[in-house]
Amino acid sequence: MSYKASFRVWRGDASGGGLQDFTVEVNEGEVVLDIIHRLQATQCSDLAVRWNCKAGKCGSCSAEINGRPRLLCMTRMSVFAEDEVVTVTPMRTFPVIRDLVTDVSFNYTKAREIPAFTPPPGLKPGEYRMKQADVERSQEFRKCIECYLCQNTCHVIRDHEENKEHFAGPRYLMRIAELEMHPLDVADRRPAAQAEHGLGYCNITKCCTEVCPENIHITDNALIPMKERVADRRYDPVVWLGSKIFRR
Ligand code: SF4
Ligand code: F3S
Ligand code: FES
Repeated sequence: MSYKASFRVWRGDASGGGLQDFTVEVNEGEVVLDIIHRLQATQCSDLAVRWNCKAGKCGSCSAEINGRPRLLCMTRMSVFAEDEVVTVTPMRTFPVIRDLVTDVSFNYTKAREIPAFTPPPGLKPGEYRMKQADVERSQEFRKCIECYLCQNTCHVIRDHEENKEHFAGPRYLMRIAELEMHPLDVADRRPAAQAEHGLGYCNITKCCTEVCPENIHITDNALIPMKERVADRRYDPVVWLGSKIFRR
């Protein structure tokens, strides 16, 4: 069964733009990305959209649909009423390149700021041993497809451009937490998490978790445990005394 849907798509570039209206055919079982491709094929051949896998795994097709951050390829048209106007806009937190494509290099910069996995000196590949519980904890975080929907949603940077320099965002605070909880990572990630990567800016609103297409419990399983570890370090009197002595 097909019907005609009303679509509003943001078109423009870094210098500005606006919403453009379309009436477009929708067939049973289609997702929003199918409709964007139909617009490219039939009405608007230069409409820019980033996509790759069409299976919810590459993290490329992130945008906002009726104001909600989502993957275009994983949003079924059946979630909208047939007479509902479907509005598709680029992610708001990152600069627009063209139409639905944004410049997400902020995230690459933040990724590079996190020191790599640091195993104990002398431990050779093949000698790594971990408990299954520790493997499972990391595996949840490693489901991340780097769609940056969580980064786009977090109000700390969505509404405050000035915070971008000092805040890694939920995806990369989660990476720091993953390494901090890793039994074979010997680096102390706690001071930098707070001082350099802006863990303290997170006030656990959980909006990042709500939009994660991989259903990773970013706030409960990464950010809150990381905050607890930072607090333990600060308020444990032995740790506090140790840090004073060794700073001299
Ligand atoms: Fe996307 Fe989830 Fe990874 Fe954030 S944590 S980048 S929302 S997959
Ligand atoms: Fe932002 Fe997620 Fe914290 S939305 S404030 S990083 S819980
Ligand atoms: Fe790969 Fe949508 S195209 S996640």
